Amino acid sequence: MAPFDPDLDARPKHPPLCVLKFGGSVLTHPDDYAQAASETYRHLRQGEKVLVIVSALNGETSALYDASNLYGVGGSDATKARLIRLGEFRSAALMGLALERIGVRTAVVDPHEIGLMAEGRPLDADVSDLDVPSLLEKIDQADAVVIPGFTAGHRGAGAAVLGRGGTDLTAVTLGAKVGAQRVRLIKDVDGIYTDDPAANRRARRYGGLDYDTALLVSKGVIQDKAIQAAKSAGVALEIAAMGAADATQVRPGPAALTSRVEPVPVNLALLGCGAVGSGVLDHARSRSDLFSLNPILVRNAAARARDDRARFVSDPAAALGGSLDIAVEMMGGADEPALLMERLLGAGVNVVTANKAAVAKHYDAPHAAARRGRARLRYSAAVGGGAPVIETVRRLAPHGIAKLEGVMNGTANFILSKLADGVPFADALEEAQRLGFAEADPSADIEGQDAAEKLSILIREGFERAVSPDQIPKASLADMTPELCREAAKRGAVYKQVARAELDDDGQITAEIVIEAVALNHPFAHAINEHNCVHIWDLDLCRHEVFGKGAGRWPTAAAVFADIMDLHRALTADGGTTSAMVLPSTAVDLGVMGQGEKA
Ligand code: HSE
Repeated sequence: MAPFDPDLDARPKHPPLCVLKFGGSVLTHPDDYAQAASETYRHLRQGEKVLVIVSALNGETSALYDASNLYGVGGSDATKARLIRLGEFRSAALMGLALERIGVRTAVVDPHEIGLMAEGRPLDADVSDLDVPSLLEKIDQADAVVIPGFTAGHRGAGAAVLGRGGTDLTAVTLGAKVGAQRVRLIKDVDGIYTDDPAANRRARRYGGLDYDTALLVSKGVIQDKAIQAAKSAGVALEIAAMGAADATQVRPGPAALTSRVEPVPVNLALLGCGAVGSGVLDHARSRSDLFSLNPILVRNAAARARDDRARFVSDPAAALGGSLDIAVEMMGGADEPALLMERLLGAGVNVVTANKAAVAKHYDAPHAAARRGRARLRYSAAVGGGAPVIETVRRLAPHGIAKLEGVMNGTANFILSKLADGVPFADALEEAQRLGFAEADPSADIEGQDAAEKLSILIREGFERAVSPDQIPKASLADMTPELCREAAKRGAVYKQVARAELDDDGQITAEIVIEAVALNHPFAHAINEHNCVHIWDLDLCRHEVFGKGAGRWPTAAAVFADIMDLHRALTADGGTTSAMVLPSTAVDLGVMGQGEKA
């Protein structure tokens, strides 16, 4: 059994911390929390931990003010505050659920749990205190901490609200108290303008401006009290739209005007629409301002007759027709999708895929084609599903990686978790298949092939070495039983499928997929069911952990969509799209669709 001694465990001391504030202008419907979760995930995969501060859904606070006026004749402000604050509590819980759906390790925290206190008038109070160590402890244990904005405890009244727009004040004050490197207020405009941009097309956008100018021109885009609090704490603010690269910076220094950034409309082709593709389709539809969709390629278009979300076709030429900016390959299989990606990239089409089999087996050819075609290839979802493993390995690789190991196959982990609960192997596998975790041929999960493909990709990204999945020795899960797992539990251990790659003293890579018992206090033991947990040691032997759901529709779709959004920002930064026309020969012989596409 692998021992785990927390006292000898070195972890990064100060992970960068980001505060994201989502206001009512971008939370207009419960469906909007999925986009807010995407925006949070964007920062998580950059290596930031995120404090998410939410307002109530649009209109809810006004309705609560109305109710407090209607029923509050003769009532106290203290009691009215208890009513008016409720929209934020509901919103924080909805935000937490949206993050958990995509597999983010999330803590939803009420103000009293972190000693968040206010003083002054209960309906227009100012933040006075925060129990910083208890908030830092929450941040240590989770990747995203969700806090209702606008409200706090109050020594006299018990509860208070911070005035209209008060969620901005919560974001600024918490950001200042925990030393966040970024406080980003997400609005329905992409920054601060000299005038209302909806009413005046000639309004100019600020790239940056100082606090006093912001007080004059923000016209309620940011709460005045929040600007003043930012000024006195010296906190720089970013004012940005959801998904935007750019932001107006409110900080000390002269004002600078910049041009308006119009989002570039991008043509998107979805190739395959199984469990993950269907989630990606929902994301793309919710950003119809950014993406126009080609007909979607599926094996059996007739079977989709009642799905009115898009037009489905079985003809690759129709799916790849017109000018294309991004193709999303979600067909399954290895050889044919790799060939298709190579041809698309060579023709200048950007490609996103979650297909680890294709990337692991054919790593070089699509990368070379991307260089030839000046196109981009992204495959973040290929390892870890929603857990940003590839991104973390890429970020650490330039400084050197000594070793990486982890639980990387959701199906194997799901089966082992179920076996430990006494469920027979066949039933556990059937459930993993029903939940959409397992590969089309689940022997890839059980025999370690899927984990070996992921490890092969990580070895490329982390060590720049080519070790094919076939070269990696693999232990099978097939002989594991509930009895073996019960035995392990008696010894204070739990079985995990662990993928491991290490750089030895001779500069050689050793790699393996093993089934091993880990102590119950080991972080891998906390990854249950479809969760993945990967540890990466840098050359100082500091352990970096990535945790999240490694399989399933929503986590994987979140990672694919994050890649699509990254490409969208890159195309916008390029100053427009360079849509490529796909020649008929590019569409390969798409007998490919008959095989891999999952249901
Ligand atoms: N079958 C894979 C797993 C899907 O179970 O992890 C995600 O790669």
